[in-house]
Amino acid sequence: MLRVENLKKHFVIGVIRKHRVDAVKGVSFEIPEGGSLGIAGNSGCGKSTIARILMGLEEPDCGTIYLDGERQDALSASAVRIRKKKMQMIFQHPEASLDPQKTILSSMMEPMVIHKMCESTRGRKERIRELFELVGISESLFSRYPHQISGGEAQRIMIARALTLEPKVLILDEPTSMLDVSIQAHMMNLLKDLGHKMNLTYLFISHDLEVLSWFCSHICIMNQGTFVETGKTEEIIHHPGHPFTRELVESFSEF
Ligand SMILES: Nc1ncnc2c1ncn2[C@@H]1O[C@H](COP(=O)(O)OP(=O)(O)OP(=O)(O)O)[C@@H](O)[C@H]1O
Ligand SMILES: [Mg+2]
Repeated sequence: MLRVENLKKHFVIGVIRKHRVDAVKGVSFEIPEGGSLGIAGNSGCGKSTIARILMGLEEPDCGTIYLDGERQDALSASAVRIRKKKMQMIFQHPEASLDPQKTILSSMMEPMVIHKMCESTRGRKERIRELFELVGISESLFSRYPHQISGGEAQRIMIARALTLEPKVLILDEPTSMLDVSIQAHMMNLLKDLGHKMNLTYLFISHDLEVLSWFCSHICIMNQGTFVETGKTEEIIHHPGHPFTRELVESFSEF
């Protein structure tokens, strides 16, 4: 469903004293339809940069992305719009992804209008009602503004919003790190459940190896822009081959 080959990205920071940061130094991976791949690594190792490149928010230096069998750099503008619909991302700070000036209902409607989902406003509203039910929130949130909802509700709204476009791939970038532990567990169960129901393919980014090992069948361990180890989650957790992986695993088993 998603294949990435030799992705690279550097940033130059500073004006007078320029400093180069090689954020992603040539990573490759693939996820089959309905599969779940985790990327684990410390802060600043390049995880979000990969996600941002996949979503077209950042231009890579080089690398090829295939989505659903199609090479992405050879696409026309209209094909790029389709790709954006097929692949949705859920960010770390859900509140920041919602427009503070808009009600929850109009934020939900927006992507559906842009991508011409459903024929009428009534049809869209009906679809949003179904999705709210699916993610376990009430339609009484429709008329509220982002500052009038909780972090857990905001995260559920973002999941529902991503699902309005019927994506095939969901990219989760630390989706639960802002939530308390009990809501985190609910959210993870919800995402797993939705994955089965809708045959979603997941790319799950987190520094939390425990969450990833519960959610993902396969995992990539990332350090300073490269994948140091890739494979089945269970094997990597129980038989870490690389010293960095061992360090990461040990830091979790101490709890
Ligand atoms: N737009 C940018 N301009 C300059 N440097 C950037 C930019 N975006 C990211 N970086 C740098 O690239 C590196 C990788 O950043 P990235 O956000 O991908 O890390 P991450 O693994 O997601 O970290 P975290 O776990 O803290 O979210 C970091 O050193 C970061 O400072
Ligand atoms: Mg990040």
